[in-house]
Amino acid sequence: MSEHPAITRRGVGIAADGTFHMPTRAQFGRGVFDTLATEVAGFGASRVMIVSDPGVVALGIVDRAVSQLEAAGVEVHLFTKVQPNPRDVHCIEGAELARELNIDLLVAIGGGSPIDSAKCIGVLLTNGGHPRDWEDFGTLRQQPVPVIAVATTAGTGSEVSPSAIITDTVRKKKMNLFDPRICPAVALVDPDLTFSVPAAVTAATGMDALSHAIDSLHCRLDTPASDGMALEGARLVALYLKRAVVDGSDVEARCGMAQASLVSGLAVGITDVAGCHSIAEAIGATYDTPHGVTCAIGLPMIMEYNLPVSRDKYVRLAHAFGLPAGVDDQATAESAIAYVRDLNTSLRIPNLSDLIDPADLDLLAAKALANTSTASNPRAADAADFRDIFAKELARTS
Ligand SMILES: [Fe+2]
Repeated sequence: MSEHPAITRRGVGIAADGTFHMPTRAQFGRGVFDTLATEVAGFGASRVMIVSDPGVVALGIVDRAVSQLEAAGVEVHLFTKVQPNPRDVHCIEGAELARELNIDLLVAIGGGSPIDSAKCIGVLLTNGGHPRDWEDFGTLRQQPVPVIAVATTAGTGSEVSPSAIITDTVRKKKMNLFDPRICPAVALVDPDLTFSVPAAVTAATGMDALSHAIDSLHCRLDTPASDGMALEGARLVALYLKRAVVDGSDVEARCGMAQASLVSGLAVGITDVAGCHSIAEAIGATYDTPHGVTCAIGLPMIMEYNLPVSRDKYVRLAHAFGLPAGVDDQATAESAIAYVRDLNTSLRIPNLSDLIDPADLDLLAAKALANTSTASNPRAADAADFRDIFAKELARTS
């Protein structure tokens, strides 16, 4: 395992070093889904496996992809049993199937779960082993089988990010396979595919986008490039998320949220996620709660903890949200945290106390501490700190 880049980084602030590249060719636009066959042809692929989930299949989007690809003479196979909080066992099964079929290109269609699963399957096809063999940073030996990612929700950012979050079903732990070579080769971001997403899923996935923006903004691996993208992602969420939830047919809002997902995904691909995802993935791995819901809950929790070291970032965030300046920077930064809490309330995101068993506080704290991305949080946290963070939020919402 390589050392986490947040630990090995030299320099501070504007002088801190850093390396990033964003290799995904992202196509954004209404109707770009119809270019899928052309994109596949560009790879010279003859056998393609579509990785998706039953919900996306039910919407008819997978059928549309199959029709498009078969009309272009491509042999298409399906692996559509991906579940939310995608499982290692399904990635292994998908990779075995793809290996038997001599698949040379993967097409992920869906939200974060199918896209992350396709990335993991691509890793297993060329690197072998179990997903946990490739956990953490820069561990791959071989270039994965390429993935074309078709995003059907607005929030995951996985369509352009270098990580795949896969649940280890034995350890009940979320693993992060993080390597620039995991980035999809192509992302098709077609806002029209998001029109049929139900309001509650729109809300949760939209908060996932915001959590990427904010985790990138306060991340220890922040750069001016990622800050610019993160702040724009947050601005777009503030402008469009409520609108997309209230009226799913609002074209401008759906486009705005698809752009928010994309730009926040790029931001977090430059940096890493941070403490919000440490908290969110601890809850998700324990109770199988949707990722976006856990991120929405985790955001104000970690922002309050990080406030002493991230105040300036949250002042800039408040401006991105369109909030007026407070009496001083502390008040302005606190208004950004209050804004996130209000957004959760208006989107009917559950409270922490609705989801967790108070007897599990130590377990949740241990899982959050063990998360790969805890090293990226701007304020160091040990198990007792995480326990306090959970306990404080539980007391607030019980
Ligand atoms: Fe996320």
